[in-house]
Amino acid sequence: MNEISILHTIKERRSVHAFEQKEVDLETLNEIFTYGTYAPSHYMKEPWNIKLYQENGKVNFVNSIIESYQRIGMLNKNEDPKTIKMINSMKEFLLAIPHHALIYFPKEQDLVRYEEEYAAVCAFIQNSQLAAWEQGVGMLWTITPYMHDPEFSRAIGLDPEKDKIAAVLQIGYPKSIPRNKGRTPIEEKLEVIRT
Ligand SMILES: Cc1cc2nc3c(=O)[nH]c(=O)nc-3n(C[C@H](O)[C@H](O)[C@H](O)COP(=O)(O)O)c2cc1C
Repeated sequence: MNEISILHTIKERRSVHAFEQKEVDLETLNEIFTYGTYAPSHYMKEPWNIKLYQENGKVNFVNSIIESYQRIGMLNKNEDPKTIKMINSMKEFLLAIPHHALIYFPKEQDLVRYEEEYAAVCAFIQNSQLAAWEQGVGMLWTITPYMHDPEFSRAIGLDPEKDKIAAVLQIGYPKSIPRNKGRTPIEEKLEVIRT
């Protein structure tokens, strides 16, 4: 991988919402997630796990999302043409995304441990997003309500008692790159305490 200045990449990376209809090869994705693994983790637990949905593997995943939305009341569950149209367009939208990477980690009962694992997983995700950007690959870090639906976890083969879903990354080559929204000057957030 061509290593461009990390400082440049940190500023230039954008969340990508529209993807080309072209898959990223597995070797590239492996390389991207390998950079992710250089994230720090307490006790070197490396708590991240990935389920990568692509090609036909997306069908069950997307159906499980729709069923979850119906269960939790975010989508209707009837034969109304409006409902069917909405479900079909949601399916079409999700299936058109080349890859979905669901990131999960072992649930810890102890809150401090839990926060440590989640924080490490977030560092893994950001490292991966930055590595992806340097490869011309776009990502969207998403958190959605189905991630809290135990039935959804079971439907994709996870144990809701043991596995915590941290995020789903939508991945592909960017069709368009959103504008840089800039950031609040850090001086507005930084309080220096000297005495
Ligand atoms: C934990 C987390 C969850 C996010 N969830 C979503 C999401 O569900 N949908 C979405 O469109 N963007 C989501 N984003 C992306 C943010 O909207 C995006 O990072 C922010 O607008 C800044 O844009 P940039 O990443 O292009 O700089 C999420 C980002 C983070 C860190």
